[in-house]
Amino acid sequence: MKIILIGYMGCGKSTIGKSLATKKNIPFIDLDMYIEEKEKSSVQEIFKSKGEIYFRKIETKYLNELLATDSHFVLALGGGTPCFANNMAIILEKTSNVFYLKYNPKSLTDRLLLQKNHRPLIADIANTELEEFIRKHLFERSSYYNQANYIISMDNLTIEQSLELIESKLE
Ligand code: S3P
Repeated sequence: MKIILIGYMGCGKSTIGKSLATKKNIPFIDLDMYIEEKEKSSVQEIFKSKGEIYFRKIETKYLNELLATDSHFVLALGGGTPCFANNMAIILEKTSNVFYLKYNPKSLTDRLLLQKNHRPLIADIANTELEEFIRKHLFERSSYYNQANYIISMDNLTIEQSLELIESKLE
């Protein structure tokens, strides 16, 4: 079984993914961390030294590497992963367990204000501009996120409730 979590930065893909993997008794993989291990460098550092285009290239490469295995796992993608190359199509070909963890822009802003410094795409955006940036960015990305097999509206759910909902839908 391959379960894939997608959604904007800060939507809790890693937190939900770890708990889900424990419940299903399968490994949890965070694509950003997988990239960092393979490249022996942080995502932040890769963006800084080699640029976003290079990052997107290796992101697609490592995604394909993971999807090509027979392994079972819960995989949390980076916020941008489904929106580049033909990643979303490839993901949907491999599994019917793709979940979009959806929050409204205001909730994402509140969540990301506390943890934006290590995220290269938003680190330099002033706090006062962040919600506007997220609103636009999310709008651009939504057509990809909305292709997920399931859209989980997270705004009014506890972590436990969202986990139960995801588990109830697994195929
Ligand atoms: C990105 C999200 C990040 C990371 C990189 C780019 C994006 O992952 O892959 O900074 O384009 O939204 P998280 O969603 O885990 O923060």
